[in-house]
Amino acid sequence: MDPTRPTTTSDSGPEQLLELRNLRVRFHTSRGTVEAVKGIDLSVAAGRTLGIVGESGSGKSSACLSILGLHPHGTEVTGQVVFGGKDLLPLPEKALRSIRGKDIGLVYQDPMAALNPVRPVGSQLREPLQVHLGMSRRQADDRAAELLARVGIPSPRAQLRAFPHQFSGGMRQRIVIAMAIACEPALLLADEPTTALDVSVQAQVLDLLRDLTDALGIALVLVSHDLSVVAGLADHVAVMYAGEVVEQAPASQLFAHPQHPYTAALLASAAPVEAEDDDGAHGATLATDGMPLRQVTDRGAARNVAREDRLAKTDAPTSTDRPPSDDARRTS
Ligand SMILES: Nc1ncnc2c1ncn2[C@@H]1O[C@H](COP(=O)(O)OP(=O)(O)OP(=O)(O)O)[C@@H](O)[C@H]1O
Ligand SMILES: [Mg+2]
Repeated sequence: MDPTRPTTTSDSGPEQLLELRNLRVRFHTSRGTVEAVKGIDLSVAAGRTLGIVGESGSGKSSACLSILGLHPHGTEVTGQVVFGGKDLLPLPEKALRSIRGKDIGLVYQDPMAALNPVRPVGSQLREPLQVHLGMSRRQADDRAAELLARVGIPSPRAQLRAFPHQFSGGMRQRIVIAMAIACEPALLLADEPTTALDVSVQAQVLDLLRDLTDALGIALVLVSHDLSVVAGLADHVAVMYAGEVVEQAPASQLFAHPQHPYTAALLASAAPVEAEDDDGAHGATLATDGMPLRQVTDRGAARNVAREDRLAKTDAPTSTDRPPSDDARRTS
């Protein structure tokens, strides 16, 4: 295999919830044009998790922001962003607004940037519920308290009146996640969701993301510069380098047999620890939160088998089968 060519092991087809097709992002600046994303193809099926990894500046966020049309005015984005069978790129801002937060939720790196510092969290949680789902104030309050409880905030009803600065960083990110899943979107985009958090709470937030997306059947695009962050969650991993997807494969395959030298380098940059092999031999392996990477990927694999089972048994349509909102379909 030619390691300079991207692998194309992700299936594409009508069952894909999201497909990026030949996506290019160019920023025109006073100092010239920056080609941040150079024609990438990625996809994620309903209920599945796609991990996107790569070093700083490789184009991960640029690709992610294109999905919801969140780039600064004047950014050139070409190709296709097909969500629920519909290309979102040509949609006007109004149609995209009706998709953001309803069909596609977003979790940013910095929870403080996602929350309004001068509004109580309850009113911020109510907003998507009232705007997108037409709930009354009372219904939205009840649901907001449920959501806070769901993401592990103690005394949720009392906390609806609290302001973002009254919570720890980890709790704030939990609140942002509650807002992102409020309308039970089909897809959640999480761009470096744990990077701004203390190491001690990173694993808890990742566990929460995994539990929620599993329980609600939400597809997840998880972006990180850290391979070990995506290792325990992703079904499929894409490695970006200098605006290109240099390798993508099912997670277990990518970790066991990296094809591209850059992927191997990323794997090698995870913290090495001494670990005992199945046959008792000691050797260096990779670790995340003190857990050998192989164990992390095994945990991910076990979860995927359980989920396969559940998906196979579920005949009835789920929220993940929902197409984009009526508004979006009308305007396209
Ligand atoms: N608004 C912008 N205007 C001009 N250039 C930009 C803009 N946003 C990103 N870039 C450039 O595009 C390239 C890709 O940036 P991007 O933020 O997508 O990378 P990333 O992989 O998300 O990095 P990080 O891990 O640091 O978040 C970089 O060279 C960056 O400087
Ligand atoms: Mg980024």
